[in-house]
Amino acid sequence: MKSEICNLKLVIKSFGCQMNKLDTALVASSLARAGFDLIDGLKEADVVLINTCSVRDHAEQRVISHLGHLKHIKESRPDLIVGVIGCMAQRLGDKLLEHEAVNIVCGPAQIPQIANLIKEAIEKNKKELAITEQIRKPAPQPDSDALEEFESAYGIDDKAIPGQAFVRVMRGCDKFCTYCIVPYVRGPEVSRPPEAIIDQIKRLADAGIKQVTLLGQAVNCYEYKAAEKTYSLADILANAADIEGIEWIKFVTNYPTEKYFDQILQLMPDSPKVCPYLHMPAQSGSDKILRAMNRRYTAQWYLDLLDKARSIVPDIAIAGDFIVGFPGETDDDFQATVELIKKARYKNCFVFKYSPRPGTTADKRLQDTVPPDVKQARNIELLAVQEKISEELSREFLGKTVKVLVEGPSKKPHLNAAESNNNPQLVARTATDHIVVFNAPESLAGRFATVRITKTTPLTLFAKLTESQE
Ligand code: 5AD
Ligand code: SF4
Repeated sequence: MKSEICNLKLVIKSFGCQMNKLDTALVASSLARAGFDLIDGLKEADVVLINTCSVRDHAEQRVISHLGHLKHIKESRPDLIVGVIGCMAQRLGDKLLEHEAVNIVCGPAQIPQIANLIKEAIEKNKKELAITEQIRKPAPQPDSDALEEFESAYGIDDKAIPGQAFVRVMRGCDKFCTYCIVPYVRGPEVSRPPEAIIDQIKRLADAGIKQVTLLGQAVNCYEYKAAEKTYSLADILANAADIEGIEWIKFVTNYPTEKYFDQILQLMPDSPKVCPYLHMPAQSGSDKILRAMNRRYTAQWYLDLLDKARSIVPDIAIAGDFIVGFPGETDDDFQATVELIKKARYKNCFVFKYSPRPGTTADKRLQDTVPPDVKQARNIELLAVQEKISEELSREFLGKTVKVLVEGPSKKPHLNAAESNNNPQLVARTATDHIVVFNAPESLAGRFATVRITKTTPLTLFAKLTESQE
């Protein structure tokens, strides 16, 4: 394989969530091993891969417009190979393959085949389709073995944030929230074997990784049944915390459920490595809308769960997601969401306008009744309510000294250049996942530092370096 595709120049463009970014990194590292030369600019590329997201229509439209651009480029460079991978590939399959610009369509479960698909597309000069036919059926053993092997072989992607890595603990989702496309494009929930996860984290630690973020659509629902024991996320976290070199462990995203909740949360005060950060979306504060979304809790039950989290871990930082304009959402329902946000006191939250996804229960059974301008107004209002809370919570950091893991130079200028001593602005995160910006030498990227917070805004803490360490 290596000889035929050796030195082909490859560009990978990624849309979507952390899961997708991890898939992009897996594909990038496997193709680099197969002999591809990973580059940034489209101009020199022989192959372009686009990793796609289907969670909202907007994300899909961005990909379609990018494909339009590639079609234009292909008019003068007909040999350019374009592959679409990820959720949109699985959702649209051969419809996407009909697009003039597209040579390869490859679903999330078929990424281990990607080098081969590129080779076939070039050698046979034909379009290649690799997706799962019956996405809700468990994958045949050889396919899931291939996926597991592909996942485990992952080294560290060059473009990754130094010192940090993402590790998937489960694939797919069985929750079937009525608005969500994920169960139909990522398939049934499958938890990876604990040994495979722990071995992978050990290898990452050996390669210098200090923080791992465990990924799952409902990561706290991780459950692996072995002959002698059923493993939960609490077991994975506890075992990962025993690995030398790993300093911080985070996990996203959590589904609000009591199962394993105490065991997982109790690790935070017990182990300094398990970060006191919980991303646990509520999606709505109206019981009527929560029922229509097939979320299996009420607003009060959810708030009680947050109280419980705070009683176990008093300094925990909690983040959330909300959807505004779900079918049937009245002003009263929306007000209930505003009330929930005020009570939940999130560190930050993401707000999305409902986007009907073809094939989901909400799309099949419910009319998209809330007009776009009302969705927009609710989106803005909710963010404004949250901004005030984030600002109050951020202000509590003022004057405090905190430990951060440095990511690298900040992409946008934040601080007064006169204070910089010619050092660049670095972006870092706390154990609670707060963003911290400060001036210090770039060599701190991938290392821990201790900083004192001097100024705060709702989403960013500004600081001065007090000391740095390995
Ligand atoms: N429309 C809008 N937002 C959605 N999300 C998931 N599906 C949809 C949809 N159809 C949001 C949820 C989820 C986040 C990743 O995306 O809030 O937590
Ligand atoms: Fe989608 Fe719900 Fe699964 Fe999250 S838990 S991926 S929102 S179906």
